Amino acid sequence: MDQLYLEIEISTQNAETTIYTSVSSFLALYTYRYLNEPKNIQVNFVATKIESGKIALRSSQLRRELTDQHITCREAAKLPAIRDLRLPIYEKDGNTFIAGTCAVCRELIARQPNTELRKLLGFKESCLLAPSEASIWTRFCEVDVVDVVSRLHEGLLLKAVPDEVVRFEQHMNEPVRMHNIYKQAREQANQTENGAKIKRKHRVQIDGRTPKEQLLIEHRFAEGISFTIADLILYPLLRIVFQHCGQMLPHFPLTSTWFSEIDSFDGTCAKILGDLYVPQAASQGEELLSIPDCDATSLYKADPKRYKPRNRIYTSQAEVDLALAKLSELQLVFSTDSEHTYGQQTIDWQKIEPTHAKSSALPQERLERKRQQLENMANAVVSLAQPGDRIVDFCSGTGHLAILLALKLPLCTIIVMENKSFSLAQAQKRALELELSNCVFYQCNIDYFVGRFDIGASLHACGTATDIVLQQCRRSVAHFVCCPCCYGSLQPMPHISYPLSQRFQRVLSTNDYLYIAHTADQAHEMGTTNCKPETTLQGLQCMSIVDTDRKLQSEEAGYQVILTRLKPEQCTPKNHLLVGRFVKQN
Ligand SMILES: C[S@@+](CC[C@H](N)C(=O)[O-])C[C@H]1O[C@@H](n2cnc3c(N)ncnc32)[C@H](O)[C@@H]1O
Repeated sequence: MDQLYLEIEISTQNAETTIYTSVSSFLALYTYRYLNEPKNIQVNFVATKIESGKIALRSSQLRRELTDQHITCREAAKLPAIRDLRLPIYEKDGNTFIAGTCAVCRELIARQPNTELRKLLGFKESCLLAPSEASIWTRFCEVDVVDVVSRLHEGLLLKAVPDEVVRFEQHMNEPVRMHNIYKQAREQANQTENGAKIKRKHRVQIDGRTPKEQLLIEHRFAEGISFTIADLILYPLLRIVFQHCGQMLPHFPLTSTWFSEIDSFDGTCAKILGDLYVPQAASQGEELLSIPDCDATSLYKADPKRYKPRNRIYTSQAEVDLALAKLSELQLVFSTDSEHTYGQQTIDWQKIEPTHAKSSALPQERLERKRQQLENMANAVVSLAQPGDRIVDFCSGTGHLAILLALKLPLCTIIVMENKSFSLAQAQKRALELELSNCVFYQCNIDYFVGRFDIGASLHACGTATDIVLQQCRRSVAHFVCCPCCYGSLQPMPHISYPLSQRFQRVLSTNDYLYIAHTADQAHEMGTTNCKPETTLQGLQCMSIVDTDRKLQSEEAGYQVILTRLKPEQCTPKNHLLVGRFVKQN
């Protein structure tokens, strides 16, 4: 049976016990209840100290679940995943652990045999599938509104309606964006009031030439016309936010109509909230709150800034030259040494990947180059590893590196971490074929990992992901082996700012840095189509600059770092290798 692990804090004062949970665990419990407590999932509680915004639970409603047998203490948990990942956690088939609010709630639904329930996952089951750093919509549901509710439970007193409320109202006013919108519009336009189809000769023609804004389809629910997991998550959160906003709901007519739609569509949403949530004493008086200004945008439109950095940064050569001139003050030599090698050892690929090699869609030459990349990475990790180490392959994809490490280091535990369920399932399949027993599988974003580990590795973790991996390694004072890629998509995030090192920060602004990072993506292989040698050379120089900044940042944190290149260097244009050994506590 699958397991759901939720965070609770048990507090006893004046002989009265209150059970608190975090906002994220509350949402998972809410979803579990909405699914009518499915028999194929067991709920477990993990007693811990909740760090931000605790929600009091109506524990009389949880008598059946809140028994000693189903409560574990986090520190004493036998299952490493409970200590390694942020709660809530979903354990699938006893061997995959999923973290992240939307991923957990999605999995609760995806595991239901009832196809009607699975429709909550939306078109092609893709609702809230993209990770929060790639999708504004997931970020809104999983981070932004959750943060507001957390802060309200930490005692935040509102003077203005939170931005998130205004953003949601504006989103509901935007044209509906859905994949099959023309089909929906035709069906809607060609139905009589009682739902019968209009005769063929009277049918209205709607095709792709009609601007989407002119289709008479409006938001009934958060993603358009169907009730989805996004409504399920946002309903309790926004209801709680409005409990803190005094009499402000009438100022948000579209949100108010959305609440009413959901209440009439499915009354259980309100009921579950009432059953589980203990409202806080009214902290807001009758005073009206101010309403902030926010840009009118659809929340589930792809963020052009995040998705297509090339569309966003129009780096001119003058800007690059200026940024490079500023760097010259540091009198650093930007190059990757080519001395260090984590040389080739013979790996029996036929043994490791028999089925993969046969069924691989990769041409032989690419397969060969991938193997060369993996050999360099694996050998560098082996040079740092000790028996008993916990080694994380961050952004593992289908687990090529992790599997190699598991074979080469049988006395170490290899944590295979990837946020795409399909890729992780492939990795698991191969580990099973090879009868590996030293791998554990975490389906989550890098940020959801909070455990201790000894070595962090990442091969071509895209853009900022490499910097999040390095941040994780510093947190756990772990050694690292990273081969970065996608320099052009580096973007500051709430917990990552550029430049990274103090030395670079002294001379470069964030924008200067991004011009250089953008230029680094021009490091194509020499001699390929459309490739000008001077552009490639500049790209290579900028790649070295970005990775030197990474090296300096790690050195400032007590690491000894080697910045070298994979061998043979042609095995990938993104061939830089950063190997860091933690040597001293600053
Ligand atoms: C370019 S692929 C590399 C895969 C693998 N390391 C390899 O070399 O074959 C990058 C992988 O990182 C995953 N990824 C990107 N950002 C992530 C994040 N924040 N957390 C977890 N995985 C992430 C993507 O899903 C993708 O599978």
